[in-house]
Amino acid sequence: MSNHVLITGKIVKKSEPALEQRYQVHRLYDAPDREALLQQVAPLVTAIAGGGVDAALMDRLPNLKMISNFGVGYDSIDTAAARARGIMVTNTPTVLNDAVAEITVGLMIALARHIPQADRFIREGRWLSGGYPLQSELTGKTVGILGLGRIGLEIARRCQAMKMRIVYHSRTKRPHEPYVYYSSLTDMARDVDWLVVITTGGKATEKLVNRDVLEALGDKGYLVNMARGSVVDESVLVEFLVERKIAGAALDVFENEPNVPEALRALDNVVLSPHQGSATTQTRDAMAALVVANLDAFFANEPLLTRVV
Ligand code: 8YV
Repeated sequence: MSNHVLITGKIVKKSEPALEQRYQVHRLYDAPDREALLQQVAPLVTAIAGGGVDAALMDRLPNLKMISNFGVGYDSIDTAAARARGIMVTNTPTVLNDAVAEITVGLMIALARHIPQADRFIREGRWLSGGYPLQSELTGKTVGILGLGRIGLEIARRCQAMKMRIVYHSRTKRPHEPYVYYSSLTDMARDVDWLVVITTGGKATEKLVNRDVLEALGDKGYLVNMARGSVVDESVLVEFLVERKIAGAALDVFENEPNVPEALRALDNVVLSPHQGSATTQTRDAMAALVVANLDAFFANEPLLTRVV
């Protein structure tokens, strides 16, 4: 057991039993003294399991060669710094597509049909004094998907099953998909009832959904963010929700998780979800297995399964 793996995040827990069988594991995320642990193991560590790796941490680990990220999104890893140091990075794509797409549609229905509010309505005994107000529905509406990647496509398929019309805005046009492509996000926002954000995080997409986009979405439009909090200008979003300049939002991700602005928590035209796109047992098991499989490939000198850097 001479290979040492540093675990940077609690999220990797599901991978830990398998990693412990194979490698010398060090948990940075719950080390009582982070500095002391690093001083003790830094030169031994050749691989990391987990994200949240910046250039400073890379510099502390002179023999680091590989980062196996738990998650498809790897925006918490400084990939430019990794590339410059010859450090490889893998992620966990594909295995979470269905779970994320499933909850996306679930949140859309919850928002349109007021599922959380209606549940509270009964629990608080208000049904006894009259029926719940009428709601909206997805049927016949147009949804614009921002980011028609692997997960975006699964969301599109499910929205088709909801009898919605599907359009999209992506870096690349997908000529083989039967959906209308918009080269301008604002133009798309103007034409849709629902805007679903499922693009990658990081600098390139920071605050892509800004004031102009929300204005174009308009007071009948709904926003769903399943990507990263950074993709949406959160303070502008709060303003638009408070002033009813958009109809509502379903949010699985936030700018500063787990902190959710009080203003959002107070609104009834918002459905909130604590970053749980991939949070099912079967999907997290599959993600954990892929994290381990990439590390195994690395230590066996074999090609990595899902390399991104
Ligand atoms: C995880 C995710 O919850 O895969 C992703 O990019 O956002 C989720 O599946 C996240 O990676 C945990 O840090």
